[in-house]
Amino acid sequence: MPGLKQYSRMISLYLLILFNLTFSNPIPKEYVIQKLMNDSTVKLLQEYIRIDTSREENVESAVLFWKRQADALNLPFAVHRPAKKPICVITWTGCNPKLPSIILNSHTDVVTVAKQEWTHEPFSGYIDENGDLYGRGAQDTKALSITYIEAIRTLIEEGVKLQRTIHVLLMPDEETGGFNGMIPFVETEEFRALNPGFFFDEGLSSPDGKLYATYQDKRPWQLNVTLHGKSGHGSTITEDSAMEKLQRLLDITREFRRQQKKIMSSKEPTDYGSYSTLNVNIINGGVATNIIPSNVNLVIDMRLATSAQVSDVNAMIQSWIEQVGNDTEVSFIRKIEVSERTILDGSNPYWVALVSALRDMDLQIEPIVCPATSDMVVVRNKGFPAIGFAYRPYTVPRIHAADEYINIAIFQQGIRVYANILKRVANLT
Ligand SMILES: *[C@@H]1O[C@H](CO)[C@@H](O)[C@H](O)[C@H]1NC(C)=O
Ligand SMILES: *[C@@H]1O[C@H](CO)[C@@H](O)[C@H](O)[C@H]1NC(C)=O
Ligand SMILES: *[C@@H]1O[C@H](CO)[C@@H](O)[C@H](O)[C@H]1NC(C)=O
Repeated sequence: MPGLKQYSRMISLYLLILFNLTFSNPIPKEYVIQKLMNDSTVKLLQEYIRIDTSREENVESAVLFWKRQADALNLPFAVHRPAKKPICVITWTGCNPKLPSIILNSHTDVVTVAKQEWTHEPFSGYIDENGDLYGRGAQDTKALSITYIEAIRTLIEEGVKLQRTIHVLLMPDEETGGFNGMIPFVETEEFRALNPGFFFDEGLSSPDGKLYATYQDKRPWQLNVTLHGKSGHGSTITEDSAMEKLQRLLDITREFRRQQKKIMSSKEPTDYGSYSTLNVNIINGGVATNIIPSNVNLVIDMRLATSAQVSDVNAMIQSWIEQVGNDTEVSFIRKIEVSERTILDGSNPYWVALVSALRDMDLQIEPIVCPATSDMVVVRNKGFPAIGFAYRPYTVPRIHAADEYINIAIFQQGIRVYANILKRVANLT
């Protein structure tokens, strides 16, 4: 959508200029961008993006990076390894450390890249003439992690004292489901010792000026399906071959998608909780060009509507098997049956504090269901309130996509926004 992109660029440029009112007008755009590029916060984000944490072996470099940030601020740093992979914790102790803490959660890992689709090298932190900083993790979630630490730095430098302790938490494997991160961590004594009261975590980008708070994740169900059939010579027509069954299954899933698409189009675009998604993301099969294969394997990735009942979805999958072939094997790679929601109303003091901090900056926030799943599903299911919020207005959503970016003016404004939020939320008594 080039139109949209240009529009959001225009806005970012407008913001760039707005935030630099201290300079005499007219400000050459190049100068404003250069000025922002020279800022230590931007340099730190570039340094972090240059650690290619899509590769397992670089996760420990990220640990060292975070240790340096904690040391620079003179804050205690801890690494926990409940399942080998490192979880980093940076702590800024409040004046009243007995109060439940505020957790600023994000993750060090990023998804891999299809390099040929990128305009700029995805692990270089390249900044273009509009001040857009490109890189894997720019949206998911490296800019947010830097925003957290820079918001804390800002407050410390301003001499602000907060009542509550703040913990910056960095998870190692959010992208692969948290099996070696948040899932085992919430069961540990080290987690309980954090005395969590409220969690912030990754949020969504919006191409317009809107800000979103995600209060519930969709439940991922990932099915590993193996279809069996009679093998044979490639020149024959066999009954009930594995490929024929595959075709039947694809027809069934296409029909399911059609129904869900219908629900989706009848709702607001951000009403992600109202429909389920289904994608066939992997198909593996075949042995030789002239042999009818005896099996084919596929992975189906579903994210359930918030209203979908577990028993109904189980029955639906069972009926698919009965239609396709009863010897079909199904196992679950991922199956989260419950995803609790965080109540966002006057009964939630953290929400009230967040909304009023934003209101003071003339910003509004809209509560929505997260279209995907994050580590917050684990935390909410443990009974903790959690909101996904990142300051990324006027930003084309490119999470997991090519040319993931963040505008450096927006990034810097986000630091101020989070600092102001913390002043309110971490001072709740
Ligand atoms: C940015 O830093 C470079 C190199 O240190 C310097 O030459 C340049 O004048 C700086 N630009 C601005 C706008 O501060
Ligand atoms: C699906 O199951 C098959 C058979 O058990 C297994 O070989 C394969 O690795 C599984 N696929 C995934 C993505 O887990
Ligand atoms: C699978 O079993 C069910 C119940 O026994 C039967 O109704 C259905 O026809 C079978 N499916 C196939 C494809 O043979």
